[in-house]
Amino acid sequence: IHIVVLMGGWSAERDVSLSSGEGVVKALRERGFSNVTPVDMDRKVATVLTGLRPDVVFNALHGTPGEDGSVQGMLDLMDIPYTHSGVTTSAVAIDKQLTKAVLEPHGIPMPPGKIVESESLYDGDPMPRPFVLKPVDEGSSVGVAIVTEESNYGSPIARDAKGPWQDFDRLLAEEFIAGHELTVAVLGDEALEVTELKIESGWYDYEHKYTDGQTVHECPADVPPEIAEAMKNYALEAHRVLGCKGCSRSDFRWDDTRGLNGLFLLETNTQPGMTPLSLVPEQAKARGISYGELCERLIEEALA
Ligand code: DAL
Ligand code: MG
Repeated sequence: IHIVVLMGGWSAERDVSLSSGEGVVKALRERGFSNVTPVDMDRKVATVLTGLRPDVVFNALHGTPGEDGSVQGMLDLMDIPYTHSGVTTSAVAIDKQLTKAVLEPHGIPMPPGKIVESESLYDGDPMPRPFVLKPVDEGSSVGVAIVTEESNYGSPIARDAKGPWQDFDRLLAEEFIAGHELTVAVLGDEALEVTELKIESGWYDYEHKYTDGQTVHECPADVPPEIAEAMKNYALEAHRVLGCKGCSRSDFRWDDTRGLNGLFLLETNTQPGMTPLSLVPEQAKARGISYGELCERLIEEALA
């Protein structure tokens, strides 16, 4: 069987995707797949795939395009099976506000927030501080700012007070949830573990995500059983309601001073990272599933 591992592309998460893709290629070859072709996606991807005629694509892309349904639509039209979620699921899940519209009616708690156009920041803060300002459809914390009373973004935020969000037009302003940063992976129809990301100073931003030694991953996390159970149920329900395939990873914040009422799902990732510091492979490993096995299971599901 001929597997193409699609990676790179031109999203803000290009480098992360190259790292994921490299890991996947190596692992599939080690598991005995002899015909594995890495493809760094460019605008000629459809022509490249027509030439290669793969039996299946391992989608190792992150961000837009790749995680947003566009590549999935192309592969559907070409009748090439692929790993992870399909068009509609990807298109909804890449957008944090659309995700909220779909998940909240199912009783999944998410932080109060609203969409703001970056233009409107001229008029002042979109909500009381502390709040989080993020591009509505990016990953890996690209463009994200936590705006507190102490932060030096200006008060009120003016558009000319340059912040990480400055290159993005459509932003989500969300209440900042103090406390813990947690995540749960779903593989097939099973929630794996709860991981807590522990950081000395700052928050789990791009640098903390991809620099070795910057963040302690506590897996399984030392949280009360009822919180862990609630997170696993929410992650499974989000995976099911959104219609995710293969695997997904739901990210949470938990304010421990508020018990269960302090637990919020932030988003569900349909193309979670597969880098050496990524969380899904780590949770799989904690459950006795190696990185290579994880890749193979995703291929098997894509072909089923
Ligand atoms: N957006 C990155 C790749 C993740 O969710 O792991
Ligand atoms: Mg994300």
